[in-house]
Amino acid sequence: MRRFTALLVLFALVATVASFVVAPDRGWWFPENASVFGERIDALFRLILWPVSFFLVLTLGLLAWIVWRGGENSREPHARTQHGDRRLELVWTLIPGAILLFLALRQMGDWAQLRYAAHRPAVPVTARVLASQFDWHFVHPGADGKFGTLDDLDAPYELCVPANEPVVLELHSRDVIHSFFVAALRVKQDVLPGRTIEIWFEVREPGEYEIACAELCGWGHYKMAGKLRALPRAEYDRELARLAGELVENGTPSAAGSKR
Ligand code: CUA
Repeated sequence: MRRFTALLVLFALVATVASFVVAPDRGWWFPENASVFGERIDALFRLILWPVSFFLVLTLGLLAWIVWRGGENSREPHARTQHGDRRLELVWTLIPGAILLFLALRQMGDWAQLRYAAHRPAVPVTARVLASQFDWHFVHPGADGKFGTLDDLDAPYELCVPANEPVVLELHSRDVIHSFFVAALRVKQDVLPGRTIEIWFEVREPGEYEIACAELCGWGHYKMAGKLRALPRAEYDRELARLAGELVENGTPSAAGSKR
């Protein structure tokens, strides 16, 4: 039984490592990257993956070996405890501490670029994102460039943005915490009730990308999906004009423009 357990641990370790080795060829690796800063996010992911993998192999390997050999030493049939071993405690505190400090310093530039207001491109807000259980709703400010006015353009489910230029979004929640996640753009940001959060990105490939909710927000969380369409500038302007035309036709000013 003991040896079986050890083999089970070893098998889990080998299967995990193998799945990472074959993943890129099988298409199980990163999703397509359509963002101008996607490579920087992926590089950070890989950087973190190395120490994590090293310690996973080390700890599971040790565990398998110890379980395999457990009780074999007849002079010492019971486990030894290591209470108060200061040198050992220093080692397992300082090494992870140094790794975390290195990662923290290494990612600071990327984080600042993406999240600090000072680095946000100085462009008008493209759309307001309204999250609620269980859908996404988008509002463009319309011709006057302001939200909460009669020419706001409503777009349920589908968000159009211009490609190849910076896009700024304003995230709002109408109820609980959601998370705006576009894997292809490497964008993931919690959406908090009562707060306005701005994010920015730039799509380098026109196309359609899935918007998902990455925060468990209730029974319908799994179906809280939307679509992001990145269009070349001229097409984007046409799309907004089309939405404006619909607004005139229906004669109903946007209700979602003024957030609740
Ligand atoms: Cu919204 Cu999960």
